[in-house]
Amino acid sequence: MKRGLFEPYDFNGVKVKNRFMRSAVWMNMADRSGHFTEALYGIYEALARGGVGVVNVEVTGIVREEQCLPGQTTLCSDEFLPDFERLAGIMHQYGCKTFVQLGYGGTRTDYRVGERVILAPSDIPEISTGTKGTPMTVSDIHYLTESYAKAAGRVKKAGFDGVQLHCAHNYMMNQFLSPYYNNRTDAYGGSTENRMRFLAEVYQAIREEVGDSYPVSIKMTASDFMSGGIFVSGTGEVVELDDLSMTGLTFEESLKICKKLEELGFHSIELSGNCHSAARKLVGRVLDGYEIKEHGYFSEYARVLADEVHIPVITVGGLDSLAYIEELYEKTNIAMFSFARPFLCEPDFLEKWRQGISSTTTCVHCAMCRKDKEVNYCTAFREKPAVAGR
Ligand SMILES: Cc1cc2nc3c(=O)[nH]c(=O)nc-3n(C[C@H](O)[C@H](O)[C@H](O)COP(=O)(O)O)c2cc1C
Repeated sequence: MKRGLFEPYDFNGVKVKNRFMRSAVWMNMADRSGHFTEALYGIYEALARGGVGVVNVEVTGIVREEQCLPGQTTLCSDEFLPDFERLAGIMHQYGCKTFVQLGYGGTRTDYRVGERVILAPSDIPEISTGTKGTPMTVSDIHYLTESYAKAAGRVKKAGFDGVQLHCAHNYMMNQFLSPYYNNRTDAYGGSTENRMRFLAEVYQAIREEVGDSYPVSIKMTASDFMSGGIFVSGTGEVVELDDLSMTGLTFEESLKICKKLEELGFHSIELSGNCHSAARKLVGRVLDGYEIKEHGYFSEYARVLADEVHIPVITVGGLDSLAYIEELYEKTNIAMFSFARPFLCEPDFLEKWRQGISSTTTCVHCAMCRKDKEVNYCTAFREKPAVAGR
């Protein structure tokens, strides 16, 4: 008999108070130089107070010249350590385990395009934004690898419980894995092993920086949802393809990659899918062999993955019902359940679930919280937060 969802859990060596997680959410609340504003600390404190077991801090930059989103946090230099040390202290006051997500956005952006160099595996425009990047030289690859490692070292130094790599949603690391975005002919393109090489080298460099036992997790994509003559856009539209040979990363290959990630030593895998928050439009469709589920879009993919690997698998996307989560928890090997938008809407909904006051989310997953040009907040149920310094 498994312990309850709200009981303590040994998350592969990290003692957490329950089986719930907050997925990384870029808030657009850092100041112009990337430092935390008081409002941003307030967002995280409310999450910790709300009782979630693990929080993943929003996608945080690794090099000064790359800011793929406005108001984004960064760990590109020691200058930002005090901000993160303060955050770790806040989270730990409430017993909330906290990982920091690191990412290099690449071409999945329309922010300040043209004003900066945007690196990418190849010169193929990102299909939703149309943004084209500069193909990375091997020395660019080494530079970013080292930058990931240094940023991860800062995550550890600041006192966090682990680091998470963003390898989903068509971000640069995801693009390296994708046969559509990566058409390199060197050691970083071609076979699965070659397309994984960048990720594997980043992992090894991080290991050297943080030591053998520090948790290094990953947010992976189940699938690029681009094969068999269809493509699912970033806004969740299903587009028929003229070119039937267009193929992104499939779930079948993603599974193989995840097994390698386990062998490499990754701590856990949070499994999303490209078109992440727009997947509500796809509920009921069978994509890459599995159905997009109403109460947990990618839960079928996570169910399959959790039978294939022995490290914790976390499902994220569209979770909105305690009854459905209980069913997944009883019937599958999925270890944890992760939410993004419901926490923007109601930072303390888990406490209400725990006390039996409610068992669904107020969030209706409309995705209007992703504002792009101003702070991200739930426009349906909450007041716009004031952010001084922005
Ligand atoms: C405003 C907003 C910001 C997001 N920022 C990130 C991010 O920084 N890193 C990431 O991996 N995913 C990010 N996502 C995706 C979420 O983490 C999550 O995968 C997606 O919203 C589906 O989960 P949900 O249905 O519980 O919201 C963001 C989503 C939204 C709506």
